[in-house]
Amino acid sequence: MKIIVTKDKITGAAKAFEIFSREIKAGAKVLGLATGSSPIELYQDMVNSDLNFSNLTSINLDEYVGLSPQNKQSYWYFMNEHLFKAKPFKHSYLPDGQTNNIAAEVAHYNQIIKENPIDIQLLGIGRNGHIAFNEPGTSFDSTTHEVKLTQSTIEANARFFDNIDDVPKSAICMGIASIMSAKKIVLLAYGEKKRWAIKNMIEGPITEEMPASILQKHPDVTIICDEAAAQDLD
Ligand code: F6R
Repeated sequence: MKIIVTKDKITGAAKAFEIFSREIKAGAKVLGLATGSSPIELYQDMVNSDLNFSNLTSINLDEYVGLSPQNKQSYWYFMNEHLFKAKPFKHSYLPDGQTNNIAAEVAHYNQIIKENPIDIQLLGIGRNGHIAFNEPGTSFDSTTHEVKLTQSTIEANARFFDNIDDVPKSAICMGIASIMSAKKIVLLAYGEKKRWAIKNMIEGPITEEMPASILQKHPDVTIICDEAAAQDLD
């Protein structure tokens, strides 16, 4: 694992941008993308750059079940707002949250990943070490799957919706084996709330109780974190 500690998320984004830019110029064709707060500045740097994505494919980690791309809480909406609107790709894939056949969509998404091997995958990390919606306890062998959201996640998300009944109950998410199949991985983590996750991902045992710890086994991972997130590292 290569670890880059930066002063703040702006310099972190600049480092990540350098890596993406270099890989794209070297011929990377398929980018694995993430949502959440951590990649926002990187997407901004991409939007402000002269990079051209019109010959590239993007594959996102996850999407809520039941939300349309027009729904402001959907990950499609997020990606359009932060990146795709300004920098369209040749093909952009997210799981279809509106499917009425989840098993078929899961199989379809696995097929997409198989046909478009990911050259470089962007990740964030949850405070508990989750990557995508792969919470502690998820099998390291998992491929794309449906994840039932816990009651506490549903309650935490309720503030974004008019009614708690509108909050998605599940998501479709790339599995840990799918993430590990990417040739190169860049993980971003900022702020002291990520201290525990950073320390245990890098220095802790490799265990399904800490999903991101599997990254220790990947041959090409770069962790970019700020000083606040890195402060417990040995
Ligand atoms: C995003 C995702 C999540 C986030 C993680 C960190 O597609 O799957 O795993 O990467 O929850 O979120 P932020 O970046 O908001 O701290």
